Amino acid sequence: MPLNYEEALNRIALKFRKTAAAAAEAGIIPYQSVNGKWVESPYDGNSWWTGGFWPGLMWQFFVLTGDEFFRQEARRAEAMLTAEFRTFRKLNHDVGFMYLLSCGADAKLTGDEQAETDTLHAASLLMGRFNPAGFIRAWNEPDRVGFAIIDCMMNLSILYRASRDTGDPRFRNTAKIHADTTLREFLRADGSVSHIIELDPETGKRVREHPGQGYALGTQWSRGQAWGLYGFALAYRHMRNPEYLEASKRIAANFAAHIREDGLTDCDFCQPEGEERIDNIAGAIAACGMQELAELTGDEAWKHHAEKLVDGLLEHCADWGGDRCGILTKCTASYHDDGAGRHTNITYGDYFLVEALMKLCGKDPQLWS
Ligand code: GLY
Repeated sequence: MPLNYEEALNRIALKFRKTAAAAAEAGIIPYQSVNGKWVESPYDGNSWWTGGFWPGLMWQFFVLTGDEFFRQEARRAEAMLTAEFRTFRKLNHDVGFMYLLSCGADAKLTGDEQAETDTLHAASLLMGRFNPAGFIRAWNEPDRVGFAIIDCMMNLSILYRASRDTGDPRFRNTAKIHADTTLREFLRADGSVSHIIELDPETGKRVREHPGQGYALGTQWSRGQAWGLYGFALAYRHMRNPEYLEASKRIAANFAAHIREDGLTDCDFCQPEGEERIDNIAGAIAACGMQELAELTGDEAWKHHAEKLVDGLLEHCADWGGDRCGILTKCTASYHDDGAGRHTNITYGDYFLVEALMKLCGKDPQLWS
């Protein structure tokens, strides 16, 4: 029998209260749970894009429970992430994910001055990636100078925040230019979005689409769809351009049409029939984005889709084993990842499941705002 949302949230918080100390003892920011134990990112250490989700989880639990342990654990990870400002050349457009959910959440929830300074520092790093040809550069490799990716719609949130906190519109104006380019170049006629578009770094003109973490060129990587859905909803919340809301609704309608009977989400909506490749992170992100849409439009249908997604996750893919770390299973980093990144636990899946539940329970601290 499915749990009610409040009960599920409390059980998850308890599970993390029992298991998070192991991360502190190991001195790591958890990336995923492997064989029930937290492990750190196998990629660029603490410069990897996912580092903010652990402190983000801790802040969500702090808001839920008021337990000081979670604040301390969030701050331990925050200190490790701000130390990464020194690795500058490894950082990329994902400084939004990394720092909005760590120092950004800290400043928002506690008013800590240093955390606010660090948030503005991160926003300035993202600004530094802006190419006046019309887009924010995603990654650092020399052959990817013109690459923009759909995920960046979420990173723009740190720019809205910086404009609000400083009274300087240049951050939000930059976000607007990037969002307009994304609207023009990524959104397809069927309501799906591309993952990667290469633009000419001199003129901003489209060069080509590239295959990304989905099944193939031109297909619908479900997590990319979720980033677009939620990212455009947040763009509308902050910039009030009705075209952003329309884009979010179109992406959401396409996503809703692809939710599986069991409420889970395929890794790519165009994957071969009969292929069992699930990415529950996509479903958890979409559940957050759809609730954002419900709030922005007053249309409860979006909330019902969000509930179907969350119910599916809780019923089929929540690991309630008290001693095992992590909660959400069947998370998939990338469609063609047949190794450690397929059908596993990954902390950003846990983060978005918890955020979706916080929203359903009316307790969301709105860390993206
Ligand atoms: N932002 C990278 C990913 O979703 O995997």
